Amino acid sequence: MKKLQQLYEGKAKKVYATDDPNYVIVEYKDDATAFNGLKRGTIAGKGVVNNKVSNHLFQLLEKHGIPTHYVQELNDRETLVKKVQIIPVEVIVRNIAAGSLSKRLGIPEGTRLKTTVLEYCYKNDELGDPMVNEYHIYAMELATKEEVARIADMSLRVNQILSDYLKYVNVELIDFKLEFGRFNGEVILADEISPDTCRFWDTRTGEKLDKDRFRRDMGKVEEAYQEILNRLMGKSAEL
Ligand code: C5P
Repeated sequence: MKKLQQLYEGKAKKVYATDDPNYVIVEYKDDATAFNGLKRGTIAGKGVVNNKVSNHLFQLLEKHGIPTHYVQELNDRETLVKKVQIIPVEVIVRNIAAGSLSKRLGIPEGTRLKTTVLEYCYKNDELGDPMVNEYHIYAMELATKEEVARIADMSLRVNQILSDYLKYVNVELIDFKLEFGRFNGEVILADEISPDTCRFWDTRTGEKLDKDRFRRDMGKVEEAYQEILNRLMGKSAEL
């Protein structure tokens, strides 16, 4: 498939058209932002790690029956994906309290939640992706009731599949963000699953292996991203 003009440039990715209107090429960049763009920087090699980690996990999810936009990895930084219409709702799945949940509700970081928590945010940079509930989603016609039911069900299944898988490489899945899109009338998983969009803690040491190292200036950012890739690739034969 031929790579054509750039359609979009986001904080961490560029998207290019192809000669087939049903497919686009995603290119992962090393640029990193946090706190709604207030903090900016570069994480050397991040684009390569996120491309490979995300593709690995999307293939795992496909094997477990979750429909995703993934088609084919083209090279270290580029992947062919289905061109979806993104549903402007970010889904956050939480197993252990951290980040904004700890801050908002006063639950100490690291506290295991009695049940998995699902949160929805309205995907809107100008507003800073505010949290919304199902009533807001229907009132603003961001998604239908059927779509939200499907998104919630898929998100919980993704959580189960990824949590179980990551435990084998000694990674605890603390929380993560998912995005979904419409393709041929179906809701499928889109965007990425990577150390940019998940909190990964080493199960033995509690060490953070994700973007919090960048957000909180903890150092060893590149090493943490590489460590996640190495652990997953060590397991790739067992996918
Ligand atoms: O910041 P907060 O605690 O709400 O983040 C929860 C999870 O969602 C984290 O894993 C974070 O990396 C991810 N997230 C994201 N993109 C956003 C907001 C949160 O990937 N815009």
